[in-house]
Amino acid sequence: MPQFAKFASFDCTAQSWYAALRSRALKPGRVQTCEVAGRGLVLWRDASGAPRAFDARCPHLGADLGRGSIADGNLRCPFHGWCFDASGACVHVPGATPRTDRPASSFPAEERHGIIWVYNGASPLFGIPTPQEVTRMWTLAPRGQTLACHPHLIIGNGLDVSHYEPLHGLAFTREPKLNVETTSVRVEFAARPKSRLWRVLTGTTRRDIEATFTSSGGNLALAEVFQPLRFSVLFAAQPVKPRHARTQTVFFFPRGYALRLIRAGFVMANLLRDDRRVLESLKFRPEFTPADAALEAFAKSVEALPVGDAW
Ligand code: FES
Ligand SMILES: [Fe+2]
Repeated sequence: MPQFAKFASFDCTAQSWYAALRSRALKPGRVQTCEVAGRGLVLWRDASGAPRAFDARCPHLGADLGRGSIADGNLRCPFHGWCFDASGACVHVPGATPRTDRPASSFPAEERHGIIWVYNGASPLFGIPTPQEVTRMWTLAPRGQTLACHPHLIIGNGLDVSHYEPLHGLAFTREPKLNVETTSVRVEFAARPKSRLWRVLTGTTRRDIEATFTSSGGNLALAEVFQPLRFSVLFAAQPVKPRHARTQTVFFFPRGYALRLIRAGFVMANLLRDDRRVLESLKFRPEFTPADAALEAFAKSVEALPVGDAW
C-alpha cells in the first residue's frame, strides 16, 4: 500500500491559501483573531485597507496581539505598546528605540471573492483559484461547515471520477480527461444524470453537463460548469480540531438567471449531501486502482507540496 506522509494526514499542513475570515468580518481599525489550519493568527487592515496576517503572539514576550489596537496605521501590542507596521517590522517601542530585530511573523494575506485568505509560507506557490469571466458573475460565500473528514478527501472527491456514477447517478458521455500540473490536477468531463427526473430537473434532457474540476494545492478546488448553465464553485477546506475539516464554499453565478441559479444550487446541495454521508464515515486507505488515476495524481501532488512554514 503506498504510504503518504502529508496526504490525508492531520500531522502536518502543506503550504496553501487558507480561508481565514469573511471580508465583512474584518472592519478597518479593528483587530481580529482567528485560528487558521491550527495556528492562532491576528488579522487587521493597513492604512490602504489591505488585509494583514500576523502570528497572534507578540515577538516581545508573547502577548496576544489580538487584544491589541490599531494606532497610526500600525498594530499595537496591548502589553508593552510595541507597534508593528504592515510588513511586521517593529516601528515603535515606548521610551526606547524600535527593535528592528524583533518583527512580528507575517504571512501573505489576500482579499478575494469576499474572503480573507492567508498563505502559510513565505511566498505563495500558486494563486487563489478564480473562474474565467469572474467580473461578469455574482459571488456568494455562505457560512462554512465542519465535517468529520480530512480536507484533502473533500477536495479529492471532485477528482474521484469513479464515484460519479454509483453515488451521484451521473453517467459519463465522454471519457474524463486528466491533466496534471505541479500544484494542480484537473479533470474535464461530460456527463448526464441516469434518472429521467434528474435530467429534467437539471435541464440535461438534450444536453450534457460539461464541467471541469481543478485542484490547487491540497485544500482548494474550482469546479467550473459550462453546460447546461454557466456557473462555478470554489471549494476550500482546512483542518480543525479534532481531526475535522472546516469548509468554505464560494459560488459564482452569471448575473440575471435567478430561476436557473436556484436549480443549480439545488443540484449542488444534493451532490454535496450524498458526498458528506460517505466522507464522514470513510476510513480512508490509499489502495488506488487504475480507475482512481486522478485521485492518485492528486494525492501525489499533495505529497510533493512543501510543509507550511512553522505552522
Ligand atoms: S509582549 Fe508585546 S510589547 Fe511586550
Ligand atoms: Fe462527489
